[in-house]
Amino acid sequence: MKFHIITFGCQMNVCDSDWLSYYLQAIGWEQVAEEEAECFIVNTCSVRDKPEQKVYSLLGRLKEYWDKNPRCFVAVGGCVAQQVGKKFWKRFPFVRLVFGTDGVAKVPPALERLAKNPELRISLLDFLDFYPERENRLPVHLPAQGFVNIMQGCDNFCAYCIVPYTRGRQKSRQSGIVLEECQAMVDRGVRELGLLGQNVNSYGLDSHGDGVSFAELLHKVAAIPGLARLRFTTSHPKDIAPEVIEAFGLLPNLCPQLHLPVQSGANAVLKSMGRKYTREKYEQIVTDLREVCPNIALTTDLIVGFPGETDQDFEETLDLMRLVRYESSFSFKYSDRPGVRAEKMSNKVSEEVKQDRLERLQALQNEHTRAALRARVGTHEQVLVEGLSKKTGDLLPCWRGRDLGGRIVNFSHDAEMLIGKIVPVRITEAKKHSLWGIVEGEPW
Ligand code: 5AD
Ligand code: SF4
Repeated sequence: MKFHIITFGCQMNVCDSDWLSYYLQAIGWEQVAEEEAECFIVNTCSVRDKPEQKVYSLLGRLKEYWDKNPRCFVAVGGCVAQQVGKKFWKRFPFVRLVFGTDGVAKVPPALERLAKNPELRISLLDFLDFYPERENRLPVHLPAQGFVNIMQGCDNFCAYCIVPYTRGRQKSRQSGIVLEECQAMVDRGVRELGLLGQNVNSYGLDSHGDGVSFAELLHKVAAIPGLARLRFTTSHPKDIAPEVIEAFGLLPNLCPQLHLPVQSGANAVLKSMGRKYTREKYEQIVTDLREVCPNIALTTDLIVGFPGETDQDFEETLDLMRLVRYESSFSFKYSDRPGVRAEKMSNKVSEEVKQDRLERLQALQNEHTRAALRARVGTHEQVLVEGLSKKTGDLLPCWRGRDLGGRIVNFSHDAEMLIGKIVPVRITEAKKHSLWGIVEGEPW
């Protein structure tokens, strides 16, 4: 069978899609371009409204392949699948498998059955009360960056968020299994590992933990010989342990970069969001992080127009941004999600006000991003190459990678292949969202 995977949403979806891709290829399926596929796997996200609409328009487009070849079928996974479930089958008859995050491990045998029996439809939507371990079928060579799930689900129930409903309760994986997987990936060429979870700071604290805390896990993974870089996401500020902050000063391969979603700078909004930290606590975390790791690159998520957010509350968010000076941020207008607490709140903010606040916030962020990038000019960076840059140089090929802080760096080099190499680069120029530099040493 020829398959094609389309992934929306977070890194955890990317990680699930990678696992499916490796597994299916190991059992003889062929990964192909969209036009050639007989089986489409769509991994979906419903954290905000817009990504959900994208799935419906994509399925509308995929229908054309089924019109031409009725053997074609679609498997829909991830958060939208968990939410919409079998209702997909009515509206889109060519959708023959729906699976939630706990069902990923069972997808390959389900796809094999579906390929053999065109009458069949399968749903894998049950929540399990343990992390469903999956057999790894990693290829001999992996790309330089790899991701490892350390947990699944979330217990926080922030008032705006659908994730606890679509991904279920928090379930940590056993530390020994996580370490084995990390080691196997490094053995196959991974140089940078990303540890993933909805809230990695509470790793090990649920009933599935084995006594190893997140800080201890970081130390163990960082000690894997040959691992050049380690990152993790996502961190909830309420749960970040002092030992995790200290790790940024202790572990040489832990990248000086942290995504620490704040959502709002106003205590009243944080309280009604159910975030369980104050602005003052957040500011203290930032101070502590910068004390142990002065050049740490901080990024965040922000929501504007949460129900009840006043002009003054919004000003406090801008004020916090001026204080922290994030390198970059993801910012969103609050959108109602079905069944979450905020949906029932009465004091909704109008669309015009949300739009206006978003534009002001993003303008401020752009100023900060530009200044942060300009400050890198003249520095010497180690750049892990991810691919060819979109912009090509005059004569030499242009490459794109990331520095330790996660910033995009472009440079020219005449090598035929640099993907996966770490290249020493001196930064010469800051663009709006990326850096340019010149190579000043041997790739390694
Ligand atoms: N409306 C707007 N943004 C949301 N996010 C999560 N739920 C919502 C919502 N209902 C944002 C948060 C989160 C990021 C992944 O998506 O900022 O950190
Ligand atoms: Fe959603 Fe809050 Fe859990 Fe993050 S911590 S996934 S925002 S409920």
